[in-house]
Amino acid sequence: MTQDRPQVELNPLFARVGETTSFPRNRIPESESLPETAYQVIHDEAMLDGNARMNLATFVGTWMDDYADRLYREAFDKNMVDKDEYPATADIEERCWRMIAALWNAPDPDGTGSADGTGGAVGTSTMGSSEACMLGGLALKRRWQHRRRAAGASTARPNLVMSSAVQVCWEKFCNFFDVEPRYVPISEEHKVLDGHDLERYVDEDTIGVVAILGVTYTGMYEPVADITAALDRIESDTGLDVRIHVDAASGGMIAPFLQPEMEWDFRLPRVASINVSGHKYGLVYPGLGWVVWRRAEDLPEDLVSRVSYLGGDMPTFALNFSRPGAQVLLQYYLFLQLGMDGYRRVQQNTIDVARYLAREIGAMPEFDLWNDAQDVPVFAWRLAGAAGTGAARGWTLYDLSDRLRMKGWQVPAYPMPDDLSDVTVQRIVVRNGMSRDLASFLVRDLRACVDHLNAPDPAAGQSHPGFHH
Ligand SMILES: Cc1ncc(COP(=O)(O)O)c(C=O)c1O
Repeated sequence: MTQDRPQVELNPLFARVGETTSFPRNRIPESESLPETAYQVIHDEAMLDGNARMNLATFVGTWMDDYADRLYREAFDKNMVDKDEYPATADIEERCWRMIAALWNAPDPDGTGSADGTGGAVGTSTMGSSEACMLGGLALKRRWQHRRRAAGASTARPNLVMSSAVQVCWEKFCNFFDVEPRYVPISEEHKVLDGHDLERYVDEDTIGVVAILGVTYTGMYEPVADITAALDRIESDTGLDVRIHVDAASGGMIAPFLQPEMEWDFRLPRVASINVSGHKYGLVYPGLGWVVWRRAEDLPEDLVSRVSYLGGDMPTFALNFSRPGAQVLLQYYLFLQLGMDGYRRVQQNTIDVARYLAREIGAMPEFDLWNDAQDVPVFAWRLAGAAGTGAARGWTLYDLSDRLRMKGWQVPAYPMPDDLSDVTVQRIVVRNGMSRDLASFLVRDLRACVDHLNAPDPAAGQSHPGFHH
């Protein structure tokens, strides 16, 4: 290159003959293409996705360190179901769920035998919390069926009691497995399921109650101990012994580190099973959940399948057959690498960032905080003023969400569930990898977006016309 004749560098990939090939959108192409061409096309399309680290809508892990990435690359060919072929991975899976059972104070996490003669904890990894919740729900249903049949009673109309703010996986569970969902509505006074009025929902056909540790809409904990106390009262009045599944998709890996005194887990005898997403605050990439039952008796034996065609005699309880094994190794990597202290520090740091953001947003006159990240590192807010509708302001949280997207941040706005569906909130989920530094840029951008929305529109001479009814 000479100084007076700068050259334009052409990337040969884009100038090559094969590069002009067009691919049919919805059909497998007739002929082959060069691997680098196919790669480049997909790489470029994927570039149009948002930046995962700026996605503040998801709970799911978007950052792991270089050693984790290396382990992932070494293990992405392992199928979790091939336990006989990959006994080391199978063994690590078991170690992980036993570690989690101990973290949740199961009475016998090692399965060495309880004093009362019941079997120890049992557990498994899953694709995520959705599968884990289905398995927890199926075990409740099957136990209820056995009890009812033994008593000569009908099993025609099982129901499951839960908050109207449950994650969609519980609606799916009820739909797929023919269980009547009984939703307890949330309200301004009872922002989460807290045991209030529970006797109106529970009867002899109730297979269980779901308590959520980290409600998806807001990140708030449902007070499992209060729900337990309400069920104790119901039992002493009616004789009904109703067990709890705790959907701790997010809180299961936060509460043991940040709120260790809070009793929400197997310390409460009514808690039969708990799930968590390894890929949320377990800090692993997408594709990993865990479910643990307090004792073997809580997972009816007739739900467990035994397969011999992979070699050995493998008990499995899962919706999927094949699924990736690498995520399980990544979870074990984090358990070894971080230890209890490391997890505590990571989660503390994450919640400190969430509370900093909640303070900054709560201090803006336009907003009222719905909650302030006291539970998991998640919080929500609504527009200040009449029922948070923003009617007087001329813009809504949906407008703010749109403007933030222009700056790359994905911060969803949505209506709350019944009975608060006239309330719109906006929510931030803070995850590991969202530094205090990045958070301060988010505050700066949020302020700029609000200023823009507040500014009189020069063309119309009135408020910004972004208001949707
Ligand atoms: C409370 C709760 N339960 C279940 C799920 C489903 O989890 P997964 O995405 O791991 O299937 C979520 C996901 O956000 C959740 O928040």
